[in-house]
Amino acid sequence: MSAEATAPGKIILFGEHSVVYKGPAILLAVDRRATVIASKRDDKKIYIDSEDLGFSGYFIDGNYTAATGKAWRGRNMAALDVAARKVMSHIGVESGLNLKVRSMIPIAVGLGSSAAVCVATTAAVGELFDGNLNKEKIAELSYEGEKVIHGNPSGADNNIATYGGIIRYERGVGLKRLQLDEPLPFIIGNTRRKRSTRNMVEGVKALKDRNPEIVDPIIYTMASLSQIGLDTLLRRNIQKLGDLMNLNHGLLASIGVSTIELDDLVYSSRREGALGAKLTGAGGGGCMIALAEQEKLSNIEKGIRAARGHSMRVNITDEGVKTRKIKDGDT
Ligand code: MEV
Repeated sequence: MSAEATAPGKIILFGEHSVVYKGPAILLAVDRRATVIASKRDDKKIYIDSEDLGFSGYFIDGNYTAATGKAWRGRNMAALDVAARKVMSHIGVESGLNLKVRSMIPIAVGLGSSAAVCVATTAAVGELFDGNLNKEKIAELSYEGEKVIHGNPSGADNNIATYGGIIRYERGVGLKRLQLDEPLPFIIGNTRRKRSTRNMVEGVKALKDRNPEIVDPIIYTMASLSQIGLDTLLRRNIQKLGDLMNLNHGLLASIGVSTIELDDLVYSSRREGALGAKLTGAGGGGCMIALAEQEKLSNIEKGIRAARGHSMRVNITDEGVKTRKIKDGDT
């Protein structure tokens, strides 16, 4: 018997970085998912097999041993070890585990792949031991794993991967799920430059500590922009939504989280008719998003490719984390 869980990736429409300090972030779950299949082992190992990342290895008492691939990979996987052990201790069981990780979410480019994998691990292990974890518990336990990778995450990513749909998330306040009557067309442009969220968040903190009188008001403005962005999204004022995305990109660039590659994708999207374009996630590489009328989408995709980016059309998905049991012999 094994248990499978899947969880979605995400884009941040407004509020990355400012959500670490204050104010809301608006996040949308997208139709690219991570899957984790958990099964029991007879020994103490938490064995992680990650075909997509090209490595496998196991943890015993928090120490990683590589089976295939480099040992430093264990650092990225420590979140899964921690999340799995937190779930077992919450349920009151102890066991070794096999965790098979697969993902359609590009890795380390701001689309929430680590949160999706962490949430899927939490939910799969919960399901394996009949722990009846509700979404609140899954988000809470997976946050413990996220902390291992990101240091001081706001909690936005593990919440969107758990709940799916569209959420307004505010640290210390909680989340609200939102509904749109009609889908909104977004294009993702991926610079394919990987970066660490932890480093980007630490870089912003260092800049803010050195220049609080300048950076604090910028963070404050990003937070209000996010709140206005939410009302604008709900009223479906696409033109204004685009303006706010462009303004948000400028503010993010001012705190040092954009790059030449991201700017190239943002400006080519705008040149090809995007109403708004901004980086999404922690920046420093990774992805940007563009919003446009349906008839402009193909040109924007071409513009992104011409600027050496990889373009993806995504749909917002309502489906958050999902679990199922797999009987031996079934797939
Ligand atoms: C990362 O997806 C978003 C950041 O705001 C970090 C966080 O919320 O923890 C940069």
